[in-house]
Amino acid sequence: MENFEPEIVAFCCHYCAYTAADMAGSKRISYPPNIKIIRVPCTGKVDAIHIMKALEKGADGVYVAGCLEGDCHFKNGNTRARYRVEHVQRYLEELGWETERVAMINMSAGMGEFFARTALEFTQKIKQLGPNPIKHIKDKNQKAVS
Ligand code: FES
Repeated sequence: MENFEPEIVAFCCHYCAYTAADMAGSKRISYPPNIKIIRVPCTGKVDAIHIMKALEKGADGVYVAGCLEGDCHFKNGNTRARYRVEHVQRYLEELGWETERVAMINMSAGMGEFFARTALEFTQKIKQLGPNPIKHIKDKNQKAVS
């Protein structure tokens, strides 16, 4: 597990987290390359199925990064996103998976350093948790077929 490099999907709101990531880049604040950013117009557009699909496709962790509470450009998209993330966490718990594989994070466009720190901390957390359990199941199934 020492060499485990997690694949992490970050659904980032165009107005805040995506801009914060950009700011981190322009300030040359580095963050782990494990983070695959998917830009969304608002985190309210991220549905539970998108998070589950990312996990099904092998992401070891997924987070949704939206505007600060009360600052969503579409009124309450980030509140809906938080509710959906919590819904997925409850589902993962039922499956016996670690709920920490999925998270909701809020930030503003000016929080480039926070974006980088969050990306680092989330990557470290997923490294501790280990690979997505679905990879193990897929490997087992492939061995059974061959
Ligand atoms: Fe950023 Fe809605 S516009 S979370």
